[in-house]
Amino acid sequence: MSNRSSSLEETFYGNCASLYDVVATAPGIRGWREHTVETLSLSPSDTVVEMGCGTGANLPFLRRAVGSEGTVIGIDLVRGMLDRAHKRVERHGWENVHLIQGDATTPPIDSADALVSTFVIGMLTDPASAVRTWMNTVEPGGRVTLLNAARTNRLVARPLNLPCRLFVRLTAPGYQLRADSPVKRLEERWVDASEALFEGTTGHVDERIGMGFITLASGEVIGETG
Ligand SMILES: C[S@@+](CC[C@H](N)C(=O)[O-])C[C@H]1O[C@@H](n2cnc3c(N)ncnc32)[C@H](O)[C@@H]1O
Repeated sequence: MSNRSSSLEETFYGNCASLYDVVATAPGIRGWREHTVETLSLSPSDTVVEMGCGTGANLPFLRRAVGSEGTVIGIDLVRGMLDRAHKRVERHGWENVHLIQGDATTPPIDSADALVSTFVIGMLTDPASAVRTWMNTVEPGGRVTLLNAARTNRLVARPLNLPCRLFVRLTAPGYQLRADSPVKRLEERWVDASEALFEGTTGHVDERIGMGFITLASGEVIGETG
């Protein structure tokens, strides 16, 4: 089975790129993105890759961390999302930020100092295999960080799990066609992805942020994985 998003999801993101960008860059969410980039421990002049970069909401933080001498590469399947990202790059005049249309599960890159992917894992049919591929593109000692949404595990915020489930269901492309629960599937994929990440890395960060609604997993690549 293919490990990439369905064409239904591609159409969904292609049509909703502008709206998505407004949500993706909201003030609270910006803080999560900043924190995510911090976990990559980037140095000026590093090369960092973002898988499923969408409209480029992480790019300002990645570009700031690697500076003008470094390189940022964003990869996404969907032209409409990349068009928004391109606008962001042009607006800032970032000459060292490169955007590629391609499948993140068969990435068109050989090596990087670090890799990040936010809110993408739930869209991959075999996230563990994608994460192993990603770890193999990162030089030993470089970090890989994943971020995703989840139902909260904090008691005080648990009443918000119902609207959270509803939100995920409504924003899961093709939800009407599916008998299974998008939230459950998203969480299962997260478990698979984070287990694969932790098997191939050391120096783990495993945390919940955003009142427990956001899961973050990060590790330092040990070497070649299977
Ligand atoms: C929820 S958006 C997240 C965008 C961005 N990472 C962010 O944090 O705002 C998911 C993105 O993943 C992209 N995507 C999904 N599957 C992909 C794949 N196999 N290869 C590349 N991009 C993919 C979609 O096109 C979409 O832009």
